[in-house]
Amino acid sequence: MLAGRIEAGGPELAVFDHLGFSHKERRCLDAPMHEDVAKVLIDEEVIEKRLNILADRILEEFSGRQFVVIVILKGALVFTADLLRRMPIPLEIECINVASYHGATQSSGQVNFLDSKLPRVEGRAVLLIDDILDTGRTLDAVGEKLREQGAEIVKSCVLLSKDKERAAKVEADYVGFHVGDEFVIGYGLDYKGLYRNLPYVGVLKAEVVEAGE
Ligand code: IMP
Ligand code: MG
Repeated sequence: MLAGRIEAGGPELAVFDHLGFSHKERRCLDAPMHEDVAKVLIDEEVIEKRLNILADRILEEFSGRQFVVIVILKGALVFTADLLRRMPIPLEIECINVASYHGATQSSGQVNFLDSKLPRVEGRAVLLIDDILDTGRTLDAVGEKLREQGAEIVKSCVLLSKDKERAAKVEADYVGFHVGDEFVIGYGLDYKGLYRNLPYVGVLKAEVVEAGE
């Protein structure tokens, strides 16, 4: 079957990928992962619409200025890939590896920089991207580090912001969605390294979290 070939399949059109699976069938292959989810908070369609708006806002602010995007791995990977494909301007992408959760559902309270070298940002405008703003320690620590390294401007963007009191007094310049103070997974966010590839943001079933503790 040819990639992208469209065939009439009953009342709806089915789009087949290069392996011959329709999108619907491919999702069924993922079923065990979806079964662990108690509820979907933000679905794919809503995420896509919001990304269009976010990308336009960022483009307005950074227009005419070359900048470097710094992706906080691994959580911001999926969000950043989708966001940047809506921004058709020259930009560079760098990654930074930090950890603060260590596999649990509560922040450890400490931000560890896992790279031996940080991206060069001296005199540059930086757009820092993370998956979620929780205690604020990560965005605060990374933003501070980049300013120390001579970045001229550091703006930040997160897919999600938890509505809560923060340990570090920091807010993001661009926010996709505000969520309650609960542990979420999907669209880049993980629980013990899993669920990042869910196409939506959701909440895990309590028994899945209990089994992992
Ligand atoms: P902060 O430093 O407490 O603001 O937390 C930021 C980091 O903690 C994020 O980059 C995530 O990796 C992780 N994190 C915070 N809340 C959640 C969550 O609800 N699900 C998954 N990861 C989270
Ligand atoms: Mg993270």
